[in-house]
Amino acid sequence: MIKYVHPVAGVVAILTIGIFWLSTVFSEIVGSQSTIVAVKTAIPWGFLLLIPAIAIAGGSGFALAKGHRGGLIGGKVKRMPLLAANGLLVLIPSALYLSFKANSASFDAAFYTVQAIELLAGGANITFLGLNMRDGLKMKGRLRRKAS
Ligand code: HEM
Repeated sequence: MIKYVHPVAGVVAILTIGIFWLSTVFSEIVGSQSTIVAVKTAIPWGFLLLIPAIAIAGGSGFALAKGHRGGLIGGKVKRMPLLAANGLLVLIPSALYLSFKANSASFDAAFYTVQAIELLAGGANITFLGLNMRDGLKMKGRLRRKAS
């Protein structure tokens, strides 16, 4: 069971954060102000899906690893605190701030500064999740490992 839950939770996490990132960029480049407000308001609610998905992917990953910390598992383990810290210290506070600012129609320099930081931190977490997915697929022989 846990073998199936793990990759599904991982894919849900990547898709959720990827949708946040893309809808932010598209709404702010081509969307109207009401679209930006809708996207910025929806993202904190999306955390109700994203946070459990990351917690389940991480928790089930540690259970599947059964204490092993070498090779590809070691890389996956090292990325998890970075992913969590980025999420808790940057992404959640930024999303709440941006939602508040957007709903007050306050699109000032502070809004765009925090928005840029959120996009960078979100991009980093998409990369960490993507690398964990790649390594998981390699471990299962579904992707070729580089000859070493
Ligand atoms: C949260 C980000 C993570 C994502 C997106 C992710 C993704 C994946 C994927 C896609 C697979 C392949 C599953 C399959 O093809 O059946 C996999 C396998 C695996 N992952 Fe992760 N993973 C994550 C975190 C972790 C962590 C933190 C660990 C270890 C501490 C871990 C340990 C494993 C193990 C041991 C397997 C092999 C499972 C098996 O033999 O059935 N993963 N992972």
